[in-house]
Amino acid sequence: MTNQAIDTAGAEALELAGRHIVLGLSGGIACYKSAELCRALVKAGATVQVVMTEAAGQFITPVTMQALSGRPVYSSQWDDRAPNTMAHINLSREADAVLIAPCSADFIAKLVQGRADELLSLMCLARPIGQVPLLVAPAMNREMYAHPATQRNLAQLQADGTTVLGVGSGFQACGETGDGRMLEPEELLEDMIAFFTPKRLVGQRVLVTAGPTYEAIDPVRGITNLSSGKMGFAIARAAREAGAEVTLVAGPVSLPTPRGVARIDVKSASNMLGAVAKRSQSATVFIATAAVADWRPAAPSSQKIKKDGSGQTPELAFTENTDILAMVAQSPAARRGQLFCVGFAAESHDLLANAQAKRLRKNVPLLVGNIGPDTFGQDHNALLLIDAQGTVEMPWASKLSLARQLVREIAARLAACAPQIQGTTA
Ligand code: CTP
Repeated sequence: MTNQAIDTAGAEALELAGRHIVLGLSGGIACYKSAELCRALVKAGATVQVVMTEAAGQFITPVTMQALSGRPVYSSQWDDRAPNTMAHINLSREADAVLIAPCSADFIAKLVQGRADELLSLMCLARPIGQVPLLVAPAMNREMYAHPATQRNLAQLQADGTTVLGVGSGFQACGETGDGRMLEPEELLEDMIAFFTPKRLVGQRVLVTAGPTYEAIDPVRGITNLSSGKMGFAIARAAREAGAEVTLVAGPVSLPTPRGVARIDVKSASNMLGAVAKRSQSATVFIATAAVADWRPAAPSSQKIKKDGSGQTPELAFTENTDILAMVAQSPAARRGQLFCVGFAAESHDLLANAQAKRLRKNVPLLVGNIGPDTFGQDHNALLLIDAQGTVEMPWASKLSLARQLVREIAARLAACAPQIQGTTA
């Protein structure tokens, strides 16, 4: 990678550059995660102003939060650092968003009631509701979370326009296991980035295939390839950030599922075909990034093939796998223009010529070419988009950055072929 490419990749990571976030902490053990969250937001380019309740101060010190945010923390409405003594007004007027993490059951109830007896709740009430969005990351014991009062309050918060970011599930500080953990800092960062992303694909149902497939020879051996799945996972994430409902059909990879994406794990090309055939019927966009095996062993053995001592090697006969992309591209919905199909071409040479030929052979409106050996397993790639109008080059960059650019290109093409491919929120 060239220095220029490294610089570009570094700059790309500042997804929250120019955003000013008020990070509110209410009282809960999850405050220990807020330190990491603050750091992650700052690292992503945001400026962060921390506001803490008195209860939050029992769990983490303002000194820690000041050091990580690089700004003095506010925790009292009587703070005389604000010249007009109106911290609740000043803090909320500067913000692009207010994120309460952790948001305790008590603080949720306060928000619902519109109480204003300390700085954080006062500031939430005083914020210009149409300009400064409020997001909350609940954190509490599983019984408190499941309690009808909390669920009722969360529903009311949403009805009032607050974004409730959901909870994690698992071992809790109290020793119990269940729903109610605050989401991890990385998850909250992903949600914040998605929150600020323009919703170009809202109403679209996007189906993505990713990763390699595994074709069994016998119960312990098989044929696969070097695809890491990173490009497809990045595309699934970018499509979700852009507001689409995303389903990701993934071959055998060990990547984490992007937030808010429905994932179906498959092993073989036949499994992938089955998963796609079913779901492509309700999709409006199909993006085939998977490196699907072209062939599978014709007669996989149900038992491990053993050496018999003769020195003879086993003979493997192959059967061709169905071309999933070509099949979907021929479906009635795709032919009617209601399902926009995007193919990938992993080539080793003559990228333009091979990819152009592949686009026509697979009969897809958009084909994305890349040099497979340069990018398999890497976090970076370079893409060449080919459609009937010509080509668009996307130079070497992180796969996530390329995925976001690709989503913009797809959204522009969907807008151009409206009204056929109209997203519906149904
Ligand atoms: N693809 C598919 N099903 C297959 C083979 C390929 O859906 N059985 C899709 C891939 O996901 C990709 C596109 O077709 O979007 C091109 O895949 P690629 O492996 O580059 O091309 P092939 O069709 O396999 O052609 P070749 O290997 O000869 O280059």
